[in-house]
Amino acid sequence: MQNSDDKLRKVISHSKEYGFVFPSSEIYDGLSAAYDYGQLGAELKNNIKQYWWSFMTRLHQNIVGIDASIFMHPTTWKASGHVDAFNDPLIDNKDSKRRYRADVLIEDYVKKIEAKVEKEVEKARARFGESFDEVMFRSTHPNVIRNQEKIDGINARFKKSLEAEDLADVKALIEELEIADPETGSRNWTDVRQFNLMFKTELGAVSGDAGIIYLRPETAQGIFVNFLNVQKSGRMKIPFGIAQIGKAFRNEIIARQFIFRMREFEQMEMQFFVKPGTELEWYSYWKEARMKWHKALGMGEDNYRFHDHLKLAHYANAACDIEFNFPMGFKELEGIHSRTDFDLSNHEKYSGKKIRYYDTESEESYVPYVVETSIGLDRMFLAVLSNAYNEEKLEDGTERTVLHIHPALAPVKVAVLPLLKKDGLPEKAKEIVDLLKFDFNLQYDDKDAIGRRYRRQDAIGTPYCITIDHETLNDHSVTIRERDSMKQERINISTLHTILSQKVSMTQLFS
Ligand code: GAP
Repeated sequence: MQNSDDKLRKVISHSKEYGFVFPSSEIYDGLSAAYDYGQLGAELKNNIKQYWWSFMTRLHQNIVGIDASIFMHPTTWKASGHVDAFNDPLIDNKDSKRRYRADVLIEDYVKKIEAKVEKEVEKARARFGESFDEVMFRSTHPNVIRNQEKIDGINARFKKSLEAEDLADVKALIEELEIADPETGSRNWTDVRQFNLMFKTELGAVSGDAGIIYLRPETAQGIFVNFLNVQKSGRMKIPFGIAQIGKAFRNEIIARQFIFRMREFEQMEMQFFVKPGTELEWYSYWKEARMKWHKALGMGEDNYRFHDHLKLAHYANAACDIEFNFPMGFKELEGIHSRTDFDLSNHEKYSGKKIRYYDTESEESYVPYVVETSIGLDRMFLAVLSNAYNEEKLEDGTERTVLHIHPALAPVKVAVLPLLKKDGLPEKAKEIVDLLKFDFNLQYDDKDAIGRRYRRQDAIGTPYCITIDHETLNDHSVTIRERDSMKQERINISTLHTILSQKVSMTQLFS
């Protein structure tokens, strides 16, 4: 496969061509960073949701799911810290009129120096072979030392100025490093200012500040404010979890890379409420459990890694990302955070209501600690689609584009294809459609030669094709073709439903 930009471009165009993802309101030239899921995209998205929801609420008897509203009382966002601190530092280029995140400009600059260091190390590794001592090399080579000192210096200064909210110094740093607009090369920058990422709107007829409400920037707060409702009505005993899938909105300064970073996206979040002091054990449990959930899809063991956060948010005592190898490289797919009692305690403070759990065993009452798992549904969709996309040269010299999506997630499970459009074959095929249509999302196709029909199904990731031919009329057998191996097998129609049920079932992922 070509370079990563190429791959992402191909995935985007394939998505559009086959009805997975369309640019939003395209007839008006689209809206930046907003996308619509098409007929196959909606199916794939639903299957991913189902995989997550079943894992959370069926495999874990102590996790229940809710569906909270997007609009919430505005004080929610004061309590959660989003009104005061959910900001990105923003800078504009006066010449190009382009807007950037100041932190991203500085991080990209640092990444370039890091790449120089790595290049130097790799060159030396190739030169010295087995005897190469990397630690020694890094601590003695003058270029590496100089560049590493530069990186450490920039990081320390940037961290200090952000912590002191000294945005003038962030601008000074950008100027001292002579960072230019990546698109135009201009260094004519405005001051840096904080930009709150929450979308605001007005409630009903109330005008002014009193009527301002926000589109939720995370689904988690809908869970926190319902902690007592769920705990009491469901008679839940700690440890227990509340799961939710829903839309979230962030006015991202730069939204790009297709559905990776959008302003309207969907999250699948689970808050696991635990006894204070046990949170780090549960944090390790969820790290491992979530990684297993990902790896069960068979998208390549090496395509995942943990990124442990060294710099923790003030309310967290442990945090990491699960990163996936997207076409653009390793990037955050899911976050796992041990959030202490920060959210519940703040909601207690701001609402004036007691949010406590009474532990009947220890006879004590406490504010539970929380371990959160939070995954972007759209990012998961991009991970599945980009990993599945492949262009293959076949033994007979022809080529095919195929989506190797796990059968349990594939949008269409089976295609029913009469070999010819005559001799009673379409009628027989429709009997098979009736046999399967209630339990499997299927397509019936009788146009074009059979080979072209297989290619069309490969391109949308259909794991099985059933072909009905003249033999079917005599002995009730059909051929079943498997997408990845392209192998065909003859089976009796009476076994079809059972065989397909096993092959596309989600249960196999959990075992
Ligand atoms: N409640 C915790 C929380 O929201 P986060 O790291 O800000 O944490 C969690 O977001 C996940 O949501 C990310 O790992 C990512 O998959 C997804 N996500 C965040 N911002 C996104 C965006 N602008 N577009 C698409 N997905 C996004």
